[in-house]
Amino acid sequence: MTPGSSVMIRPVRHLQGTVRLPGDKSISHRYAMLGAIAEGTTRLTNFSTGADCASTLSCLRTLGVECERTATEVVIQGRTLQATLSALDCGNSGSTMRMLSGILAGQQFSSELTGDESLSRRPMARIIQPLELMGARISSMEGKPPLKISGGHLHAVDYAMPVASAQVKSSLLFAGLYADGTTRVTEPIRTRDHGEIALRAFGAEVKRDRNSASIAGGQKLRGIEAAIPGDISSAAFFLCAAALFPGSHLTIPDLLMNPARARLLDVLVSMGLRISVLALEEHHGEPRGTIQAEGSELNEVTIAGADTAALIDEIPVLAAIAPYTKNGIEIRDAAELRVKESDRIAAIATNLRAMGAEVEEREDGLRIPGQQEIHGARIHSHGDHRIAMAFAIAALRAEGETMIEDANAAVISYPEFFQTLQTLTN
Ligand code: S3P
Repeated sequence: MTPGSSVMIRPVRHLQGTVRLPGDKSISHRYAMLGAIAEGTTRLTNFSTGADCASTLSCLRTLGVECERTATEVVIQGRTLQATLSALDCGNSGSTMRMLSGILAGQQFSSELTGDESLSRRPMARIIQPLELMGARISSMEGKPPLKISGGHLHAVDYAMPVASAQVKSSLLFAGLYADGTTRVTEPIRTRDHGEIALRAFGAEVKRDRNSASIAGGQKLRGIEAAIPGDISSAAFFLCAAALFPGSHLTIPDLLMNPARARLLDVLVSMGLRISVLALEEHHGEPRGTIQAEGSELNEVTIAGADTAALIDEIPVLAAIAPYTKNGIEIRDAAELRVKESDRIAAIATNLRAMGAEVEEREDGLRIPGQQEIHGARIHSHGDHRIAMAFAIAALRAEGETMIEDANAAVISYPEFFQTLQTLTN
C-alpha cells in the first residue's frame, strides 16, 4: 500500500479462522530499548512488524547499537550508547520518543529527537518536567517535539504523575537506572506494567507498592532471549469483528494476556462475545494464552475511570461498533484520546456521523446510541492507524461499501491488517 492509499470494505456475514498476531508493540519497544543498554545479546522473535517499533530500532542504530533484523528475529548487541549528531527520528511513535528520552536523559551526551507531523503536535511536558527534576536539561517547542536533551548525571526523584501514562512511567523508570538513589513513580490510575516487567526480565529489581513502582539506580541489565506474545490491541479489531456476527469463530494463539491489557476480554464477554482461554503460560513475567471467541448478540457497555485507562487503545474500535449494540456505548474520562496520534474523539464522531450514526461528542468522551442502521461512507483515517482499522471493522456490518482513505496508516502498528481481515472474512 502507498501512503494515502484507499481500501474498500464491503459488508460480510461472519468472521472465521485462526490468526497469529505480530508481537505486542508495547513490549517490543521496551525489549528493544533495554536490549540496547543491556550487557550481551538480546534475541527477540515475533517482534512487532509495525512501523513504530521499526522507528525504535532505527533510533537505536543511530545511537551506535547493532540491531540485526531477519525474517524471524531481531538481534540486538547491547552496548554503551554513542553520541550522534543526527537527529533521532521517532516517526509517528510517541512510545519511542517518550521512553527513549528517559534513557537519553542518563547519557553523558546531548541528543535531539524529532517526529512526524502528528508526533510534533503531541504533549511532551509530561516527560520533560520529571526528567528535568532528575537533572536532565530538555528544550522543546513549548512542550512539543523536537526535543533536545542534554543528558548527564541524574538524581532519583519521588514523582507523582499527574497523567496516567505507561509511557511516562517507563521513561522515568528507565531514567532511574542512571540515577543516584531510588526513583519512585506513582501513577493516579494503574496503567500497563510492561516497563516494570521488562526491567525485571533484564535482571533489574523493580519494587511495586500499590500504585508506585521504584527502581534503584546503577543496576546492570543482561540481554534476554524472548518470543514476544501477540498484540492484544491488534487482536481487538478481529475480536470486535467476531462480536458483530453471531456464528463467528475466531482462534488467536499466543496472545498477550497481561491483566493490565486483557480488560478488553472482560468487556467483550460482558457485551456478549463468548471467549475461552486455553494454554495459559508465562514467559519473562508476561502471561500469554490461546483464545477462542464466538460471536453472539451485542450488549451495551459503559467505559469509565480505570477501565478507560486500561482500554485506551481499544476504545476506537469499541466505539466504532457501538451503533450495532443493543443500547449503545458510553465512554467517559477519556480526554487523553484527544492527544493520541489524532484527536480520536473527534475522528470517531466525524466518521460515525459520515456513516449515518447519531453520536454525542463530549470533551472527554462519547455517547453512541445502539440499534442504529449505518451505511457505508468515505472514512478518513486522520493518519491514525487505530482509526483506519476501527472503521474497517464498523464497515463489515454497514449497508453498502465503505472507502477507508489513507488506510496505509495501519502500517504504524499492524501492516498485515487488511490482508488478514480479508482472509478471515472470505
Ligand atoms: C503505551 C501506552 C499508552 C498507549 C500507547 C502505548 C505504552 O499511551 O496509548 O499506544 O506502550 O506504554 P500513554 O502512556 O500515553 O497512555
